[in-house]
Amino acid sequence: MNHAQTHVSTAAPTLVLGSSGKIGGRVARALDARGVPVRLGGRRGEPPFDWQDRTTWAAALDGVRSVFLLYAPDLGTADSVADITAFTGQAAEAGVERIVQLSARLADEGRTATEELFADAEAAVRGAGPAWTILRAGWFFQNLDEGFLAEYVRAGALALPTGEGREFFVDAGDIAEVAAAALTEDGHAGRTYELTGARGLTFGAAVAEIASAAGRGIDFFPVSDEEFGAALAAEGVPAETVTLVVDVLRRIRLGGLDHGSDDVRAVLGREPRDFADYVKDAALRGAWRA
Ligand SMILES: NC(=O)c1ccc[n+]([C@@H]2O[C@H](COP(=O)([O-])OP(=O)(O)OC[C@H]3O[C@@H](n4cnc5c(N)ncnc54)[C@H](OP(=O)(O)O)[C@@H]3O)[C@@H](O)[C@H]2O)c1
Repeated sequence: MNHAQTHVSTAAPTLVLGSSGKIGGRVARALDARGVPVRLGGRRGEPPFDWQDRTTWAAALDGVRSVFLLYAPDLGTADSVADITAFTGQAAEAGVERIVQLSARLADEGRTATEELFADAEAAVRGAGPAWTILRAGWFFQNLDEGFLAEYVRAGALALPTGEGREFFVDAGDIAEVAAAALTEDGHAGRTYELTGARGLTFGAAVAEIASAAGRGIDFFPVSDEEFGAALAAEGVPAETVTLVVDVLRRIRLGGLDHGSDDVRAVLGREPRDFADYVKDAALRGAWRA
C-alpha cells in the first residue's frame, strides 16, 4: 500500500464557508469530529474568503475536494445567484468533486422574487458539474439566541408579522450533522433534503416556551408587514433585507411552511432535536438573561 498517496488523497480539505457563523461553525466541528481536514472559509480565514472579492476565491479553493457552500449575507440578496454561479464554476475548474449547499425551504415554490432567488441559487449549484446535495433548512432554533432575533427576545419583546402561522424550526446542530454526512458519505449526491424539526410552532408559542424556561416575562406581539418593515427600516436595515425578511415571514403567516419533513431522521437515523431541548440548554447557559 502506498501510504504517501493515501495520505495526500485523504488530506484534501473540505472548504467550509461561513465557518465563523451559526451553521458553518457547527459543520466545521462536525467534520473535525469525523477526522476530516477542514479549511475555514471566511473573511478572517487563512487564506481569507470574501464573497464580495472574487480575487480571494482561487486560493481558498486550491487543493479542496469538497465545499460546504453557505452564501453570506443571505441567499435572498441580489448578488447571490451571480456569485454562486461564478464560484461553483471556479470550484469545478479547480477540481472540487462535491458541493453541499445550505438553502432554505423557500426555494420550493419560486413564486415571490425572494423565492426565485433561492431557487435560482440552487439551480446554479445543480448545474455546476460537481456532485451536489441541497439542504433546504427551516428556521434555525438558534435565530432566537445567537441570530438576529436574539436581541429582541433578550429585551423581552419580539414583534413579527407571523400571526398564527406555524414554522417547523430546526436545530443548527442537526443541519450541521446532515451536512457532514452529505460531505463524507455516499448516497447523498443529487438529493435535495428538507430539514425541519418534528414540531410546528407559532412564534408566539416558541417565545412562550423560552419565557417559561428563562423564568421571566418575554412577550410576542403580532404586527402587520407594514409595521414590521417600517420598524426594520427605522433601525437602518437595508431595503433589500427588509423585503427578504418580510417575504419570508409572510409565507409563515399564510401557512406556507406549516409542514415538517422526515429528512433529518432519514439521514441521521434519529429524531431531530426538539425545540424544548434547545430551549432548556440555552436557558441554562443564560442565553436570555435580561
Ligand atoms: N436564519 C435562518 O433561519 C436560515 C434558514 C435557512 C437558510 N438560511 C441561510 O443561512 C445562511 C446564513 O447562515 P448563518 O445564519 O449560519 O450565518 P451567520 O451566523 O449569520 O454567519 C455569517 C457567516 O458568513 C460569513 N460572511 C459574512 N459575510 C461574508 C462575506 N462577504 N464573504 C464570506 N463570508 C462572509 C461570516 O464570516 P466572517 O464574518 O468571519 O467573514 C459568518 O461566518 C444564509 O445564506 C441564509 O440564506 C438561514
